[in-house]
Amino acid sequence: MKTRKTDVLIIGSGLSGLMTAELLSLQKNVMIFTKKRLEDSNSYLAQGGIAAAVQEKDAWYDHFLDTLQAGCFHNETAAARQLVTDGLEMIQKLVGLGVQFDRQPDGTYQYGKEGAHSHARILHIGGDSTGKHLIDTVKKRIIEKNLVVEGETVLKLIVKNNRCIGVWSMDELGEMTATYASAVILATGGLSGLYPLNSNASTITGDGLALAYDAGAELTDLEFIQFHPTLLVNDDGKSVGLVTEAIRGEGAALVDESGNRLMKNEHPLEDLAPRDVVSRVLYRAQMAGKETFLDIRNINDFQKRFPTVTRLCAKNRVSIEKGLIPVAPGAHFTMGGVGTDVGGRTSITGLYAVGEVANTGVHGANRLASNSLLEGVVFANRLAQTVRSETDVELTLEAEWEGIEVLADSPTFEEIREIMNNHIGIERDERGLNQAVRWFERYLNTTVIHEFPSLEDIKKRNQILVGWLVAGSALQRTESRGSHYRTDHPYQREKWQQRRVKRRKECYESVESTAGA
Ligand code: SIN
Repeated sequence: MKTRKTDVLIIGSGLSGLMTAELLSLQKNVMIFTKKRLEDSNSYLAQGGIAAAVQEKDAWYDHFLDTLQAGCFHNETAAARQLVTDGLEMIQKLVGLGVQFDRQPDGTYQYGKEGAHSHARILHIGGDSTGKHLIDTVKKRIIEKNLVVEGETVLKLIVKNNRCIGVWSMDELGEMTATYASAVILATGGLSGLYPLNSNASTITGDGLALAYDAGAELTDLEFIQFHPTLLVNDDGKSVGLVTEAIRGEGAALVDESGNRLMKNEHPLEDLAPRDVVSRVLYRAQMAGKETFLDIRNINDFQKRFPTVTRLCAKNRVSIEKGLIPVAPGAHFTMGGVGTDVGGRTSITGLYAVGEVANTGVHGANRLASNSLLEGVVFANRLAQTVRSETDVELTLEAEWEGIEVLADSPTFEEIREIMNNHIGIERDERGLNQAVRWFERYLNTTVIHEFPSLEDIKKRNQILVGWLVAGSALQRTESRGSHYRTDHPYQREKWQQRRVKRRKECYESVESTAGA
């Protein structure tokens, strides 16, 4: 078996991973592993933009409060505050790297509006292709520095005495390598690909979470999975991409087949309510046999303003001329993940996590729209500072491959997705969650150690493990909060609403005194 050595190994090629590499590459030898190609990430697909309180009439504490309110006050406030304050500096850093946010004819930025934001503060690039442009800019720099190993899947972390010193990986030809590093960084994204309707890159099925769990790292808040209200659904009922919330920010509305506004009387912000609220309304409408559409008839220059969605519709033979885009809620973002501090440290020395796979607690129970690209750059910067401040270890290159757990009996991917959808979806209850836990355990109980597993074996076992972890976490949280909605523990809307207003007021007062800090 081959061995390699580097200072920093980053697993995953989304914005947070690439930014971490960019920020460390002057001081450290950095290597990036990606399972498939460099572009296969959720960041690349991100449409809406990147939220930051840049304009004069906005303020970081308003962005902070919106983040907490959308997160149902389950957020780690220190992380949320860091997100919005560091965010302002990181926007400048991106501009310095060559990122060109869309501007008005007078040269000022164009600000988009999205759900649960109190101000229009979403910076975007190329209309609705922000993620692609951001990744392309950073990617160019990374490729020049020759840091990327494509087609490399990490099978296992190498941990000795609660210190991570590297990873075992396999390439597409089945060759295994031990790569040793002083800092191993998980930047693998979330788990939404485990759901039949989802907005994610096809590679995103929770591998990083499984690696961390197997190594004994702490995972937190896995029950909080965000369902985006508006995925484009084709004639076969399959999700084929995202229809950005920024379109509702421009005035589009959610309607049923008779043209009735679905969000009317459901929330004071109507179509721009937080995503968990909108997704539940759409889900219930569909359960009641209704069809759900995004009505874009009042949007001028739609094709020019939303070229990605226009292309997506054309590719899937959805006519935007009629002005009604068929949409359905689907899994989009994992708020929970590998527990970290704001510097990206996990509970295992030498192992770090950043971006969607990490849980700094920044998003709470439901992420605010367009806070994820911001999270990617802000916490990449914090993590780079952490790694720079820590001394490299003397690596002993002596790990022995002892094989890995695989399942002797496993279901199909479609069966896994059906269980996720039916029992750990937008609405959950104790009975369904128990059923899911038992279903996953049936397969986990068939575990055997395999010396030379196939990539398919590894992927399947990780999917079953992660499904089981999510079901177990959802079972333990016997309340409804944000994206975790238990029909057997529903929240009383009016009481909750009053509580949110009161909490917002309290938070506002507590940050006001430090606003100039
Ligand atoms: C969107 O454009 O609707 C998605 C952006 C996000 O997830 O924040």
